[in-house]
Amino acid sequence: MAKQEDKFKKVISHAKEYGYVFQSSEIYDGLSAIYDYAQNGVELKKNIRDYWWKAMVQMNDNIVGLDSAIFMHPTIWKASGHVDAFNDPLIDNKDSKKRYRADVLIEDYCAKIETKIDKEVKKAAKRFGDSFNKDEFTSTNSRVLGYQEKINTILSRMGKSLENEDLADIKALIEELEIADPLSGSKNWTDVKQFNLMFGTKLGASAESAMDLYLRPETAQGIFVNFLNVQKTGRMKIPFGIAQTGKAFRNEIVARQFIFRMREFEQMEMQFFIKPGTQKKWFDHWKETRLKWHLSLGLGADNYRFHDHEKLAHYADAATDIEFKFPFGFKELEGIHSRTDFDLSQHEKFSGKKLQYFDHEENKNYVPYVLETSIGLDRMFLAVFSNALVEEELENNTTRTVLKLPAVLAPNKAAILPLVKKDGLPDLAKKIVEDLKWDFNVVYDEKDAVGRRYRRQDANGTPFCITVDHTTLEDNTVTIRNRDTMEQSRVKIENLKNIIKKEVDVKNWLMKM
Ligand code: GAP
Repeated sequence: MAKQEDKFKKVISHAKEYGYVFQSSEIYDGLSAIYDYAQNGVELKKNIRDYWWKAMVQMNDNIVGLDSAIFMHPTIWKASGHVDAFNDPLIDNKDSKKRYRADVLIEDYCAKIETKIDKEVKKAAKRFGDSFNKDEFTSTNSRVLGYQEKINTILSRMGKSLENEDLADIKALIEELEIADPLSGSKNWTDVKQFNLMFGTKLGASAESAMDLYLRPETAQGIFVNFLNVQKTGRMKIPFGIAQTGKAFRNEIVARQFIFRMREFEQMEMQFFIKPGTQKKWFDHWKETRLKWHLSLGLGADNYRFHDHEKLAHYADAATDIEFKFPFGFKELEGIHSRTDFDLSQHEKFSGKKLQYFDHEENKNYVPYVLETSIGLDRMFLAVFSNALVEEELENNTTRTVLKLPAVLAPNKAAILPLVKKDGLPDLAKKIVEDLKWDFNVVYDEKDAVGRRYRRQDANGTPFCITVDHTTLEDNTVTIRNRDTMEQSRVKIENLKNIIKKEVDVKNWLMKM
């Protein structure tokens, strides 16, 4: 656990030190759970967004984009169920006066049991060596089965109680499991209460005439209320999707874990409109497709798992999370939800306008069902960034810090370095910068010895360092150094563009899907 916390602290300080993420309003002591993306962070975030957009919109001729406003008519949130049901169950510790999400306390308790399972697996793997079969072990070992059953019983009881709004049972469960305040160790808890997560604001010049609005807690509703506009103007035929990326706001009470849980964050959502009755097929399709998208980035298949929901949101008939192994354990990265016709039907009811599709093949109107994929851009950023940060032991007993970002996402693709600050090398290096910057983000760096510059670019996540030396003056060749392997080769300046393009081209990465 201490090792995990250590790693996470390193992630946060590296993000600040190398210009990726800053605390918002830092000079005024910051705002909790609100962050700014710095010069490198903004590029990484944009590249992740583009990678998603290309895979979802550009490569699918039946998915189109949208950019709906953050402010929306307040009745939308009544219709969607957010006014009445977008709550978190909160519990206070009477001694420490700290507030927690009751469901998170219980989930963290289960995560600890899961750590015990992991330990058993590791022990057995060591004992059995090459003949070890993890699946067989976890499905037969009595201790592991006992732990797993305990987790299932707890989560299933929690799921049912939350669904039935039985908050007294959630408190009873916390007490039965003897869950203590993680900070103070106290078990002196208040009752569990529901707390609405939407931020309110006002629209209008005077207090009397102002209209109460909410900052949107998800981008999805902007898609639903535009469903017919897009369908008609785009002459879209079911099945088709509408995708958008944009800010969402939630008054998260337990806002810890850096950019994992923020109050202002960005979502990348796609609503796929389908014929009623086909939702199971599309649920499986999007589960598979979205996992492939993740795997194409090479963060490691073992770092992902599905978590099917016991407790379904008020709009869903099936739901799963793609969980990622963050430095603090497996947590939700993306949600895939079968939302039925809940949202469109509700908007029909509350607006009095028909939101139906005429199916020429069936020769009838119906309210489409919806399959949703929803991923937090900031969470994806954290997944990519924390996975990339490694401390490497080198052969000469030194270590190097390297940010092994997938090259397609790296903020800068190459750093151009004159070996020395004289003999015309800087001018030549700057010429290369001028040429490459039409195609890629590149940086020029002439400060310090070249070895230090390599280390600086490694820690910054730059996939290539291109060094201009005296041989360059003679034969127009440079050395190109690979961040991950540290291998260097000598190439012609005229070939640089193609060499870099091959490694950073979105097509080459998405083709792995
Ligand atoms: N439209 C469905 C929806 O909003 P959700 O599971 O509440 O579903 C979807 O959110 C995704 O948005 C999550 O999987 C997560 O990646 C991201 N997300 C949710 N709350 C967040 C927060 N407070 N900070 C950062 N990302 C968040």
